[in-house]
Amino acid sequence: MRERDIILVSKTIQPEMNRSDYGKTKKGVGRREFLFKALASGGLASGYLKSPAGLLLATNPFSQAPQTNTSSQNNKELVTPNIDFFVRNHFATPQISEEAWRLEIHGLVSNPLKLSYSGFLLMPSVRRLSTLECAGNVSGGGGVGTAVWSGLPLRELLQQAGLKPGPTTIVFHGADSGEGENVPPGTHFARAIPLEKAMDPATLLAYEMNGEPLPAEHGFPLRALVPGWYGMDSVKWLTSIEVLEQSFKGYFQDEKYVSLGAHGASGPITRTQVNSKFLRPSEGEEIRVKRYRAEGVAWAGERKIARVEVRVGGGAWQPASLSASPEAMIWTPWSYEWQVPSSGRYALEVRATDDGGQSQPEVRDPDRKDPYELNTPHRINVSVL
Ligand code: MTE
Repeated sequence: MRERDIILVSKTIQPEMNRSDYGKTKKGVGRREFLFKALASGGLASGYLKSPAGLLLATNPFSQAPQTNTSSQNNKELVTPNIDFFVRNHFATPQISEEAWRLEIHGLVSNPLKLSYSGFLLMPSVRRLSTLECAGNVSGGGGVGTAVWSGLPLRELLQQAGLKPGPTTIVFHGADSGEGENVPPGTHFARAIPLEKAMDPATLLAYEMNGEPLPAEHGFPLRALVPGWYGMDSVKWLTSIEVLEQSFKGYFQDEKYVSLGAHGASGPITRTQVNSKFLRPSEGEEIRVKRYRAEGVAWAGERKIARVEVRVGGGAWQPASLSASPEAMIWTPWSYEWQVPSSGRYALEVRATDDGGQSQPEVRDPDRKDPYELNTPHRINVSVL
């Protein structure tokens, strides 16, 4: 495990925050969703920069960042403040009292566990920066964010529970249930991941997000965090974890979050695909300068970003610069110095390629009938005045 991902954290309980729904603009923030974060070289700083309101309100938070040279630039990351992090809920947010809440770990284990919230807080924790993207996020959409998550590696608890021989599947059960979206009555949110992913040291049971207790809409008191895989597996409001020998059958496992080919269901949605987006300029922006620094982020799930390219007006793809050394499971900021041509309207596009050689596709696979893994290049139109 890499040193920079893991440190012990102190646990301070702070009030929960009020949140809005995924898809709505929270407080009309747009680009102020991003907060510049500096990581101290050699390890994650014990505190991260919670920016003062002035910085968050700036139209271009990137321009507020200290302009430093390459060595320290390699340690820069962008963190999405909790208030700006997208929310994707299938049901209403359950209200959970931390005193009454318990997490059960059961199934194919020799020592079933029942843990309280305070019990969790007393265990040594780890802290990890991870990007989370919703499987239904559209190209350039707001359904992606990066936070510092604190909690326990799931594998430690599974080891404590003593896995019996034979398990293949770990099921996360959430407290939320309801109707709508053709959900069968009585269905609660549950998702399963293979044992191998559950035993990955990066897979966490997280109770803090950016140094605060998980906000209610992000899963208080405890959620799974499955870095590198689309967000549906990072189950919120966890009530139990079930260890199974066989695969898990469930509405959100078999009916939702599966890819649909021309001839029906073709497979589960799992790993986050390579993707990228502009943070600036924004759609419709008017540009009045001769040199414009376009900026954004790119991510590739369990892989690293290898390159990012920008294309203007359907011309040739041009390389963008990566502003931090790429890491798996964390988005990489990029920038592109645009020599702005004469006045007119221009289409700007960005695409990324991962270290396995996978690039964002030019067009969506026409056989795909499901709304997931939408990772064609982010395209925006701007006016040069
Ligand atoms: N967990 C529960 N219990 N219920 C949900 O509806 N939504 C999932 C996942 N975990 C969901 C859940 C989906 S689809 C996504 S993309 C992520 O939560 C979003 O996490 P966030 O709302 O904290 O951004």
